[in-house]
Amino acid sequence: MTTRRKKIYEGKAKILYEGPEPGTLIQYFKDDATAFNAQKKAVLEGKGVINNRISEFVMTKLAAIGVHNHFIRRLNHREQLIKEVEIIPLEVICRNIAAGSLSKRLGLEEGTPLPRSIIEFCYKNDELGDPLVAEEHITAFNWATTQDIDDIMASTLRINDFLTGMFGAVGITLVDFKIEFGRVWEGDFSRIILADEISPDSCRLWDSTTNEKLDKDRFRRDLGDVIESYTEVARRLGIMKDMPTVIQGGLH
Ligand code: TMP
Repeated sequence: MTTRRKKIYEGKAKILYEGPEPGTLIQYFKDDATAFNAQKKAVLEGKGVINNRISEFVMTKLAAIGVHNHFIRRLNHREQLIKEVEIIPLEVICRNIAAGSLSKRLGLEEGTPLPRSIIEFCYKNDELGDPLVAEEHITAFNWATTQDIDDIMASTLRINDFLTGMFGAVGITLVDFKIEFGRVWEGDFSRIILADEISPDSCRLWDSTTNEKLDKDRFRRDLGDVIESYTEVARRLGIMKDMPTVIQGGLH
């Protein structure tokens, strides 16, 4: 089904194909999982299907509260139609609780609540391992303007508030997440919208009662039950009923 289309870009977890009309693309979710800049790799059967649904669910909810994003509609189990954007080469990370690279960098015990939500920017470049950058680098190298950064930060905090509430309501703590933004042009004017995906690949999600990890750290840290955990997130969000029966029945 996907073989004849023109491939625009292939990343580690997704492929972008040309869309049915100008200004659109098809985003295909692979089962591939990578960590540590692809030094660790696996195929996790069903991951793409679950992430396609979770990202659809989250993007649709965000659009409903006025957070403009690239999602147009889901096409099938692994694909969604999206708006074509010029990706801003930044990974925007928002953190509520210390974990991962922040814990390492600043010597903070994982699980320590942060005094306030913290936004970090990484330069999206696999060869360099997505290094942390400051606003100074972003504006000096023209990746985004000061106004763009203000918009991105305001939008990120709004997304954080919404997602914290959405996951909190189903007993999941949003520890941190990574998002990406893209530029869309309307004549001579551009605006920045949320792009990429929001899924357990790109968030840290802990069970609010047990602190059990329900996200990609299960893969990164060899904790097992990766798909089971992603499925649990989908189940709590109420979207398992829409999943193909092979996944509903359990893959492992
Ligand atoms: P970090 O603590 O490893 O910097 O990760 C912060 C958040 O960003 C976490 O939710 C996982 C997510 N993330 C990605 O989505 N892609 C990546 O390549 C990395 C390193 C982290």
